[in-house]
Amino acid sequence: MVSDKILTDNARNITLGAIREMFDKASKMDSVISMGIGEPNQDTNLAICKACCDALMSGKTHYAPNAGIKELRIGLSKNGFIAKDFFDPETEIMVTNGGMGAFALIMQCVLNNGDEVLIQDPQYLNFKQTVALCGGVAVPVPTTCESGFCMQVEDIRKRYKKGKTKMLILNSPNNPTGEVIPKDKLEEIAKVAQELDLLVISDEVYGALIYDGAEKLSISTIKGMKERTVVVGSFSKAYAMTGWRIGYLAGPVWLVSRMVKYQEFFNSCINTPAQWGATFALEHPEFVEEIRASFAERRKIILNGFENIRGIKTNHPKGAFYLFPDVSAFGMNSKQFCNKLLDEAKVVCVPGSAFGECGEGFMRVSYTAEKDKLEQAIERINKFCAKLYG
Ligand SMILES: Cc1ncc(COP(=O)(O)O)c(C=O)c1O
Repeated sequence: MVSDKILTDNARNITLGAIREMFDKASKMDSVISMGIGEPNQDTNLAICKACCDALMSGKTHYAPNAGIKELRIGLSKNGFIAKDFFDPETEIMVTNGGMGAFALIMQCVLNNGDEVLIQDPQYLNFKQTVALCGGVAVPVPTTCESGFCMQVEDIRKRYKKGKTKMLILNSPNNPTGEVIPKDKLEEIAKVAQELDLLVISDEVYGALIYDGAEKLSISTIKGMKERTVVVGSFSKAYAMTGWRIGYLAGPVWLVSRMVKYQEFFNSCINTPAQWGATFALEHPEFVEEIRASFAERRKIILNGFENIRGIKTNHPKGAFYLFPDVSAFGMNSKQFCNKLLDEAKVVCVPGSAFGECGEGFMRVSYTAEKDKLEQAIERINKFCAKLYG
C-alpha cells in the first residue's frame, strides 16, 4: 500500500523551525508589528517588472540555458556584486533559483554522506538543513558578540577533521547578526582555509546592504582564494526581488561545470523572463542604492531606539537589515522573552536560540518595516522592558 511509509528519512524528518512558530502565533493576533521578517518591505521597482513583462511579450517564453542567459551572466561579471571582471561569465558564473538554489546545487555536488561542513553559530537556519538534506553534517563553530560574531581561526582548526571536513560557509553581511567580517579577519580565515584545504562558500546575498563605511570585500578576491571559493549572490535583498527567485553563483570551473549539469535534472533552467528582468536591473545600480539608503535611515532609528532601552545591550552591525541585541538580563531564555514580547507588547522578534546555541540570550530584530512602525515598535519594547524591571 502506498502510504507515508515510502517517504525517505529526509522527508520524514524535515522541520520548518522556530521562526515559523512565532509567525503562526502572530498571525492569530491583531495590531502586531513584525520585526521578524527577512525581506525588504518594498515591492520590486516597476521598471524591472516592466522589463520582465516586455521579455514575456516579445516571446522570451522558452527554456533558457542551464547556466542562465548569457546577457545576465555577462551583466553579473560587469555590474554585479561579485568582483568586476573577475569570474568568466562563460564558465565560472551561473544563474540559480535564488541564493537557496545555489546552496542546493553546491551541496549536491560536493557532499558525500557524512562529510562535514563548518558553519558559524549563530547561523542562517537553512544552511544546516540543506547540508543535512544532502547527506552532510553541519558542524557549528561558536562565536561571541564580543568578537562581532565572527569565527576565530583557532575554533575553525579545532573542529577540522582531516578527510571529513570539506568546506566552510561564510556569510557576510550576516543573517541573523547583521555583522560584516572585517578585512583582517577575512584574511586570517582565507589563510586557514588554504592551510586546511577547504572549499569556502561565501554567502554574499546581503553584500549590497552595508553602512557606516563598511568595506565591501569578498574572500574570493584574496590571493589564493579564487580557486577554492564559491560566491553565492541573489537579487532577493538588494533589489527587493525575493519572489522572483533569481540568484547566482561564481566559482571554479571544475565545480561550476558540474553544477550546470545538475541544474538540468533539478530545475532545467531558471525562469526566462525573470532573468531578463534581472539583466535590466543590473543596468540600474541606482535601484539598489535607493533600497540601501532607505535601510540606512531605518538602521539609524532602530540603533538609536535600542541604545535607550533599559536592560537591552545591542550590537552595532554594519550590514544586512538585522540587529542581534542581548536580552539575557531579564532572566528568561530568548524564546520565553520573545513570546512574552509578542503576548504583551505585540512585537515579533525571533529568539536567537533559533539560530544556534550561541544565539541563546539574543534576539534577531529585522528593521524592514516602515519607519513609523519601527518607532512604534521601539516604544512598545521600551515600555515592555521598563515593566519587566518594575
Ligand atoms: C544568509 C542568507 N543566505 C541566503 C538566503 C536565500 O535568499 P534567496 O534564496 O531568496 O536568494 C537568505 C534569505 O533569507 C539569507 O538570509
